Amino acid sequence: MLKCASFFAGVGGIDKGFEHNELFKVVYANEFDPYPVKTYELNSKLKVDCRDIKEVQPDEIPDFDVMLAGFPCQAFSVAGYRKGFEDEKGRGTLFFELVRIIEAKEPEIVFLENVKNLVGHDNGNTFRVINECLEQNGYKVYPMVLNAMEYGNIPQNRERIYLVCFKDERVYQNFRPLMPIPLKKKLSDIIDFKTKVDDKYYYTEGKYKGDIYEQLVAAMDDENAVYQWRRKYVRKNKSGVVPTLTANQGEGGHNVCLIKTKHGIRKMTPHECFNTQGFSKKFKLPKDMSDARLYKQAGNSVCVSVIERLADKIAEAYKAVNA
Ligand SMILES: C[S@@+](CC[C@H](N)C(=O)[O-])C[C@H]1O[C@@H](n2cnc3c(N)ncnc32)[C@H](O)[C@@H]1O
Repeated sequence: MLKCASFFAGVGGIDKGFEHNELFKVVYANEFDPYPVKTYELNSKLKVDCRDIKEVQPDEIPDFDVMLAGFPCQAFSVAGYRKGFEDEKGRGTLFFELVRIIEAKEPEIVFLENVKNLVGHDNGNTFRVINECLEQNGYKVYPMVLNAMEYGNIPQNRERIYLVCFKDERVYQNFRPLMPIPLKKKLSDIIDFKTKVDDKYYYTEGKYKGDIYEQLVAAMDDENAVYQWRRKYVRKNKSGVVPTLTANQGEGGHNVCLIKTKHGIRKMTPHECFNTQGFSKKFKLPKDMSDARLYKQAGNSVCVSVIERLADKIAEAYKAVNA
């Protein structure tokens, strides 16, 4: 069994993906936002360390073999501040908190997830620094950009970069890349187009300011598609999948994913957003938490089924060497 420690754990999407393979067990998780912590703990026996990572001393973390971290991407994201490591809010520098822990704990494997744009950020300098830091600590880095709709059998257009880093060069040599798989899951497998949901999710005449409702009615003609309200206009997702879920889709109305059903035009529910990230239908959401917080948690998380496949590949490589 390989012990995993999870940082920037959010609701635990990466953790769930690894624990699907019996080789991995998450023994520690750190996340400083109490809301995703609540969701995490509702779905796990683990008690999350909810301090700021900057306060966490390595000797307070149980020993572990695998570091899991989808570190905050705001500083690297095109939608963010474009400031990278220099982000004045300090988010860009959080990567170095991971390096501090790696140096002290020397895990066998480091698994990192981030936005695809990490590669091009600051003309490639950000990505170069990350790679150099990992290599200096003795890791061989295997980067991959994977889209959930091609590699996770989930109808979401979500491209993310994954860095799988191995201390043992032999394990690295045995690591095989993921191959694309057919997209068999349909929108109707993750979105309930048939059942009437709570009224609050529906757009009705006069419910919102201006002519939003009229615009939606005019633009949304397909009952098997996902649309997005983009501040001033409605956009249909042409590829027949859900567009990338974002953390801000609960705020101010933009980026919200909309569907047309026989009961009316409505937002996707938080549960449907978690389904869109490949979470099991058994994944529980706290009942007393606002939708805005839940949308944020879903958008911030990962496509669990892509992580599961990666965890299986890592396990295969590890077992090939450590039989
Ligand atoms: C991109 S999300 C990762 C989500 C996670 N992979 C999941 O499956 O839900 C980054 C997370 O890092 C957390 N975070 C940001 N700064 C932090 C800090 N200084 N200490 C601890 N957690 C932090 C945020 O609250 C957020 O939940």
